Amino acid sequence: MSINDWLRLMHPILAVSVVFPLIGIVSYFALQTRQRRLAVQAKEKSKIPPVVGKEHVNLGKWLTGAVVGLTLVGVGHPIFKNIVKQAATDSPVPAGKVIFIVFMFLFTIGSLVCLYRATAPQKLWRGLFAALTTAGLWILGSQDGVFRRTYEWQVSHYYYGMVAATLMVISLAILPEIYRSKTWRKVHIALNCIALLLFIVQGITGTRDLLEIPLSWQEPFVFGCDFANKTCGG
Ligand code: HEM
Ligand code: HEM
Repeated sequence: MSINDWLRLMHPILAVSVVFPLIGIVSYFALQTRQRRLAVQAKEKSKIPPVVGKEHVNLGKWLTGAVVGLTLVGVGHPIFKNIVKQAATDSPVPAGKVIFIVFMFLFTIGSLVCLYRATAPQKLWRGLFAALTTAGLWILGSQDGVFRRTYEWQVSHYYYGMVAATLMVISLAILPEIYRSKTWRKVHIALNCIALLLFIVQGITGTRDLLEIPLSWQEPFVFGCDFANKTCGG
């Protein structure tokens, strides 16, 4: 495999070896946290140790960073591949736009770091940094080169991935509220059950995309195919 193929595989490799195991652990602790809380509430004796809530949150925080990072790698590769490809033609991406894109990557990562650092009482700051991180993600996702599959958005890896990443940012932003109120806890559970479904969908659409994307040496032939009529080479 060439270096280009390895660069393209970075995103699926990270997803399969880091993010999905983390999703499994966070979900397991989530269920235990709930079971323990319900048992304690019903004044039953629970065998589940009290530390599960803390473990869920600690790993949940890692999960937010991991999913946002994974999404940035997912959109980053096609964006920079497009810049390199265009540079060899007579319509290269303008330098101003390249600088803007690099700035947006740093801006999005910076906003997420600030969101991690905005502590409990700073509601306004948490809201602001969550909004900025989300805006950064979607602005980068709308750049040229990213394959969004808008013509059949129902099965798009892009849209569901972006929504899942946004839900992770929201979880981090409302973290102190989940402890404080029943309503926010319910909001958290509802949103993250949707996120969990979206992660499973990502596993399906992502492996499909891997099957559709050729190795770099096969590209000239495969991209010459007629994808609408599903015919090749004639
Ligand atoms: C796959 C993703 C996730 C799922 C399915 C999930 C689900 C849950 C569930 C079911 C609970 C227990 C609620 C109850 O006691 O009834 C919970 C608690 C909580 N979650 Fe999540 N969660 C996820 C990710 C996250 C993330 C990313 C964060 C923060 C960054 C987070 C922060 C919290 C907090 C602070 C609590 C309260 C813990 C406690 O009561 O000790 N969760 N979550
Ligand atoms: C948490 C789960 C995941 C999220 C949030 C996510 C998100 C994204 C996003 C936003 C993109 C860019 C848009 C696009 O090209 O479709 C992307 C690309 C891609 N994803 Fe995922 N993804 C996830 C899991 C996976 C998995 C499990 C696989 C495969 C095993 C996968 C394979 C791919 C491939 C092949 C691309 C195209 C990369 C390229 O063109 O360079 N993804 N992903």
